[in-house]
Amino acid sequence: MSNKTNQQWGGRFNEPTDAFVARFTASVEFDQRMYRQDIQGSVAHATMLTEAGVLTVAERDMIIQGLSEISTDIEEGRFEWSIELEDVHMNIEAALTAKIGITGKKLHTGRSRNDQVATDIRLYLRDEIDLILVEITRLQQGLLGLAEQEADTIMPGFTHLQTAQPVTFGHHLMAWFEMLSRDYDRFVDTRKRVNIMPLGAAALAGTTYPIQREITCKLLGFDAPAENSLDAVSDRDFGIEFCAASSLLLMHMTRMSEELVLWTSAQFNFINLPDRFCTGSSIMPQKKNPDVPELVRGKSGRVYGHLFSLLTLMKSQPLAYNKDNQEDKEPLFDTIDTVKGCLRAYADMVPALESRKEYMREAALRGFSTATDLADYLVRKGMPFRDAHEVVGKSVAYGIETGKDLGEMSLAELQAFSETIADDVFEVLTLEGSIAARNHIGGTAPAQVRAAVKRGLSKLKGREV
Ligand code: ARG
Repeated sequence: MSNKTNQQWGGRFNEPTDAFVARFTASVEFDQRMYRQDIQGSVAHATMLTEAGVLTVAERDMIIQGLSEISTDIEEGRFEWSIELEDVHMNIEAALTAKIGITGKKLHTGRSRNDQVATDIRLYLRDEIDLILVEITRLQQGLLGLAEQEADTIMPGFTHLQTAQPVTFGHHLMAWFEMLSRDYDRFVDTRKRVNIMPLGAAALAGTTYPIQREITCKLLGFDAPAENSLDAVSDRDFGIEFCAASSLLLMHMTRMSEELVLWTSAQFNFINLPDRFCTGSSIMPQKKNPDVPELVRGKSGRVYGHLFSLLTLMKSQPLAYNKDNQEDKEPLFDTIDTVKGCLRAYADMVPALESRKEYMREAALRGFSTATDLADYLVRKGMPFRDAHEVVGKSVAYGIETGKDLGEMSLAELQAFSETIADDVFEVLTLEGSIAARNHIGGTAPAQVRAAVKRGLSKLKGREV
């Protein structure tokens, strides 16, 4: 970084900014990542000013040419960022003036950094949301593929992490798919409120120049200009909302992660995670650790933290812009990076998950997972549900005592608990019978899982990938 002095407001000042204060108040080290959007906004602004008769066509062309060269300079690593020029906006403006002379100083007519920065962040976030939507879709595609493949794979379903009823692995994966569908919708919805244009609000009250906000709005692909200039430059609720949607997504991903961590353990042994998603231990030669799920689980912490940073940053701020808002960027950027990283890791990993069907099945056989099916059987034969519950409870107690699952007991053993039980009972006590019986929308029967996968595929149709 070089040490140019700040000319932008020199007129009013008697002494230069203290060197530490300059560093302390600068944001260029982190806001330079918005340079593309800053230039995009400036090009639109200059174009509009020409339509409005504020700039000449020749001036506009010089500005646009200069900005395009600056963009290339930045991309090719030639651009010299300066702390003294505080932020991305003033760095680019100063470079423009250095390049094209006095015309460069006209670009900021009818605009303020306050509406400029709010515009840049929204453009930046909008682009990133679009990338995030693609990654969520990719992960969902992976889940659909795996769910289809695992539609018949039986595993224990849990409540309280205790064996509850058999389900199919495909059904379990489709639960993850549903969580992600809602996350996707939340980002789509957030994007609507992100895609509103602050430009034209100027510092806070609007501007005296005959600006035409419809023009910049259209050029920048915004849905509408912000209605109120004070609100437009000051609120960062759209960023908070993005962090809230991200927090929910990460929360869902921690749940998936937790299950993968459990399932890859020797105690469950339901899943093999290919080696490329794992690491070993420097001391314990036998270890293969599920690092990716663990790290994603851990990364939720910083995203929740950023949500709170931004809520606290915004709290109690009087209208309109305050310098506090410069603190919006790092939490927002880190949330974006974290979300993208986690999604990418998962989208790559999920299609590579290998189920260990024998272990899943064996686990489902243990733990009396068909007990509810036996109760339902008795109810179908005319017994009130509460009584059926009691009968099955006693059979389970007997099973624990003798080390037998319900399906392993003889008819005589079962009949000791109820005369109603006949030899057709074994159809419902098998795992296959149990899952096939839950044959309705949202149920775990393999046919239903396949139907859900189909619906899922049509949901993804038309989405950008
Ligand atoms: N770097 C500032 C930010 O990120 C830009 C806006 C500064 N405006 C001002 N009046 N100081 O918020």
